[in-house]
Amino acid sequence: MKKLSLLLCCCSLHLLSFGQVTNNGLSIIPEPVKVIKKTGNFILPKTVIVEAGKQPELSPVISYLKNKLNTAAGITVTTKSVAPAASIKLVLNKKVDTLLKSEGYYLSVTAKKVVIRANEAAGLFYGLQTFIQLLPKEIEGKELAKGVKWTAPAVEITDYPRFGWRGLMFDVSRHFFTKAEVEQYIDAMVKYKLNLLHLHLTDDEGWRVEIKSLPKLTTVGAHNIKKVGQFGTFSQPSPDEPRTYGGFYTQEDIKDLVQYAKDRFVNILPEIDVPGHSLAAVAAYPELSCTPGADKYVVNSGEPFMKWEGQHNTAIVDNTLCPANENVYEFLDKVVTEVAQLFPFPYIHMGGDECAKNFWEQSEAVKALMVKENLKTQQEVQSYFEKRLEKIVESKGKKFMGWDEILEGGLGPNAAVMSWRGIQGGIEAAKMGHDVVMSPTTFAYLDYMQSDVNETHVYAKLRLNKTYEFEPVPEGVDAKLIKGGQANLWTEQVYNMRQAEYMTWPRGMAIAESVWSPREKKNWNYFFGKVEKQFERLDESETKYAPSVYDPSFSAIRNPDSTLKITLTNEAPGLETYYSFDNSLPDNFYPKYTSPIDAPKDATMLKVITYRGKKPIGRMVTMPLTDLAKKIK
Ligand code: ACM
Repeated sequence: MKKLSLLLCCCSLHLLSFGQVTNNGLSIIPEPVKVIKKTGNFILPKTVIVEAGKQPELSPVISYLKNKLNTAAGITVTTKSVAPAASIKLVLNKKVDTLLKSEGYYLSVTAKKVVIRANEAAGLFYGLQTFIQLLPKEIEGKELAKGVKWTAPAVEITDYPRFGWRGLMFDVSRHFFTKAEVEQYIDAMVKYKLNLLHLHLTDDEGWRVEIKSLPKLTTVGAHNIKKVGQFGTFSQPSPDEPRTYGGFYTQEDIKDLVQYAKDRFVNILPEIDVPGHSLAAVAAYPELSCTPGADKYVVNSGEPFMKWEGQHNTAIVDNTLCPANENVYEFLDKVVTEVAQLFPFPYIHMGGDECAKNFWEQSEAVKALMVKENLKTQQEVQSYFEKRLEKIVESKGKKFMGWDEILEGGLGPNAAVMSWRGIQGGIEAAKMGHDVVMSPTTFAYLDYMQSDVNETHVYAKLRLNKTYEFEPVPEGVDAKLIKGGQANLWTEQVYNMRQAEYMTWPRGMAIAESVWSPREKKNWNYFFGKVEKQFERLDESETKYAPSVYDPSFSAIRNPDSTLKITLTNEAPGLETYYSFDNSLPDNFYPKYTSPIDAPKDATMLKVITYRGKKPIGRMVTMPLTDLAKKIK
């Protein structure tokens, strides 16, 4: 008996370390606060009666449920306000349950019925998401699945989020994504209880929201030249190339998107990125620039226009709005007026990042402004701009938010800060009593490569396990000021929706668990086991995701004879890695990696593949040794 339990114990530890074990067979992401697994299963009947109150706020939850059960399972749902025999009950608490607050829920699944209780409809929606994750993966399918037993294991779950701000940022400027694609993005994020979509609506490559009082923003600013390849290195545009690539959302589109998001309990945070990143606006209205000749400017199509070296970038083409021009503040007043009317979310994000100052330094108007306002540095000039902008935003009844550069040169009194250059800006802002959202490059940048190879080239790497370490509340900071966190998908190198999904998943799951689940419940191996189950669900919903988590990381040092000593590290638990230096494609009959390997003197290429047992699980990875040599510090 002792031996048996030791064996069982070893097996389960072994499985746990391989990331295979899920919570009593459940694979819920984000991990709920409390899960009690019961015996038995609930079987979905062919016709489901749902008991739900008549409150109008329940209707999006019911629609979502109906659609979900009907599409893949072919189940018809009937709703009644009183139905003792109902198999699913959605209950809004009459008396507020203080533990659950606005987004928490209780989910009880027994052999007889499913009951979700919450204080508000959002909680019912999240309880429903958890229930859906208990159903077979085929529930995520887009068409009727045959031969599936639609059962859910019996559980009692208590759940509520750690943070109210659980976001993804989608850059729809560098490449335009249609309204339907944004809706598709929302559909994917709500499964993981993410509730905030930050739309980066303007940048050097396109202005994406119709502003009726400033029509040229979209007649001129919404299109550039279609180029494909490595964005940022493209040839300079010529006048005869058609400027027809891109697009924008009409105000009707925005209303539809806001409603679509609202029906899924998602808020949309609009971002208008000024005073830098404004080339599309300047191309439309050159009089907003400090720089003579701006009337020749065009919307950027991925040709170089900025030097990114050094602490502050320098512009080759002046992509800024002029802080010394009163027309700029009138322009911004018009923009913010319309944006405030379109988006009900209390915040408007006004950018503020990476504003090159080299053209301001040359501008007589800016020099005069500095004298008049006693501004000593260009950072103070930007701060002057931001403080005026904050007043404009507040005059429309909205709250002002910006990237952490708005701290430089002094922050306006009520500004909220989105910390991206690490967490330091967030710490500084919180210490001054400002609200903060954390989205540091170190953990939350979805445009970064997910492994060393097989990825669209971007200058930095962010693996899933690093993303999973994201902790929004830094030590010593008042947690009340940290509203939450988000991951940012910049799209310079993201040309289409499949790639947007690939870059978002599974890292978006790691972010979701970091902003929803209790900190002490996070566990990488356990999480990874759940991610693998979620991969199967993403296959069903035909959502693309990155398998990069199965690629090893590469590092190298030089041996005394100048050959390379190479270390391979797997982030996914329980994998074996096989390799070759002879340019052939390795499999599990090739040498297995066990410790750092010496590259043969004349070898040029290391190829590796990962296996789980006898099954290849990773992609074939080819690493040129010259690339590896470049990684040596
Ligand atoms: C940013 O990544 N420039 C906010």
